[in-house]
Amino acid sequence: MNGRIAASPRFLVLGLPAMAAAALISQASILSSGDPKTQTEAAPRAAAVPQYTADGELKRPTDYRTWVFVGANMGLEYRDDDAKDPPPRKDQAHVKVGNFHNVYINPESYRHYMKTGEFPQKTMLVLDIYKGEKGDPKSVVAEGLFPGNESGFAMAVKNSARPDGSTTDWAYYDFGVDKQSAKALPDRACYDCHLQHANEDNVWVQFYPTLRKSRQAKK
Ligand code: HEC
Repeated sequence: MNGRIAASPRFLVLGLPAMAAAALISQASILSSGDPKTQTEAAPRAAAVPQYTADGELKRPTDYRTWVFVGANMGLEYRDDDAKDPPPRKDQAHVKVGNFHNVYINPESYRHYMKTGEFPQKTMLVLDIYKGEKGDPKSVVAEGLFPGNESGFAMAVKNSARPDGSTTDWAYYDFGVDKQSAKALPDRACYDCHLQHANEDNVWVQFYPTLRKSRQAKK
């Protein structure tokens, strides 16, 4: 690839229409009950498991923001081919404003990983992407970046018995910004890079501080 930093997968560059954002916000507020009594007496929450539509598409979870937050990578871009591309530059002066990659894992799988060092079946990881914005020069903010609009949403799900019949252990889904369900993508689009370069069982543990620490402690 002649040293080019490869374009990120398609899902990283989509923009969020304002209406979709509003729909998500109103969906979230329906879920929260205003009655404090109901909240304290509520039964323990059921385990989060992947939900599929009748034709095998993965449904976008509504409660992932209450899952365990494992990473907030900033401006990561992916190189196409480790063997052919030259090593990444050490100085970071050329790094442009990128996106925030907020990564969540469902709580049951988080606990299982911290205990055993393995991701169980039905592990779900969410990659929630926000455009990095610079502070408004007129405001009190002098420097730094904050997450602007949501610009992408992707998921990785470990399920060897997934409804579309594939036997690959991990499946990858791109929801864009507003799709409520998505089809598993072909292995060459997502799975192959994760398999070859991610630190552990297709997951980029190297970029998620608590998981990384737990992994190092077990070695
Ligand atoms: C060229 C390599 C590459 C390709 C291709 C790729 N990814 Fe990733 N992916 C990464 C890297 C690096 C991360 C690390 C975390 C980040 O981006 O913040 C990641 C993280 C993720 C995560 C967070 C959970 C995890 O596994 O660590 C999801 C979900 C994800 N990618 C989905 C996808 C989907 C969907 C596709 C296909 C459209 C895809 N990826 C294609 C490199 C890749």
